[in-house]
Amino acid sequence: MKVIKTCAEMSALCQAAERPLGLVPTMGALHEGHLSLTRQARADNAALAASIFVNPTQFGPHEDFGSYPRRLERDLELLAAQGTDVVFAPPPEEIYPAGFDTWIEPGAVAEGMEGAARPGHFRGVATVVAKLFGITRPNRAYFGQKDGQQVAVIRKITTDLNLAVNIITMPTIREPDGLAQSSRNANLTPEQRTAAPVVYRALRAAESLWHTGERDAGRLQAAARAVLQSEPLVESVDYVSVVDADTMAAVDAVSNQPAMVAIAARVGSVRLIDNVVLV
Ligand code: PAF
Repeated sequence: MKVIKTCAEMSALCQAAERPLGLVPTMGALHEGHLSLTRQARADNAALAASIFVNPTQFGPHEDFGSYPRRLERDLELLAAQGTDVVFAPPPEEIYPAGFDTWIEPGAVAEGMEGAARPGHFRGVATVVAKLFGITRPNRAYFGQKDGQQVAVIRKITTDLNLAVNIITMPTIREPDGLAQSSRNANLTPEQRTAAPVVYRALRAAESLWHTGERDAGRLQAAARAVLQSEPLVESVDYVSVVDADTMAAVDAVSNQPAMVAIAARVGSVRLIDNVVLV
């Protein structure tokens, strides 16, 4: 497995790679969620590339860029064991050299939920993902449904900018108690870790109600909020939203179109996000 630090070398290597080429973009601190992406990408493609880059431009000034877990050596071992051909792990100045001044500003799909709670977040995500696509020119790129709005944003920029890459979404990987796997889970104290599955229980409450025939978004949200409120370690709830699963537009009632129920909540100081799709 080759580990590459520069855009020029990565571009050259990917251009010479066998096709199809699969790309798994990550910020490292890999867990089973990421490995489910690399496993699928390995099975689907002749060549497999992954990137590890904690992208500074998708973090707000008061967010956890500094404390985001970084475990490069371990990540490289895991990726090698998955049969990854090449890992792109550039320093920030390689992606954002002096004078860098072009940004991708996604529209309405990025306005609510994470976009509202984290201004500028999706501008950073969209820009770095477009750059990674430009550098590697993959045939397929793999993302986890856990970041449901991120996937919708990436699909939208891929369509709108005619980026020649097939976006593959893989299901959320959960711990046995339902907690969605996330690099940020490493920052939970043991007590907070015990409380954290409340987020998925809240989503399941909304989903169960939907299964009984309830279609009113307000009532589905209320069911989820009631579960979150029952857990004292939930410090705050950024949102409980019911949105169209493609456009991320809020809906008043779930129709025949797939809808997504999404939650962002803080357990202690750790911000957790998760979602379920009602289909
Ligand atoms: O989901 C992530 O890890 C990041 O947002 C991504 C897609 C790698 C862009 O930095």
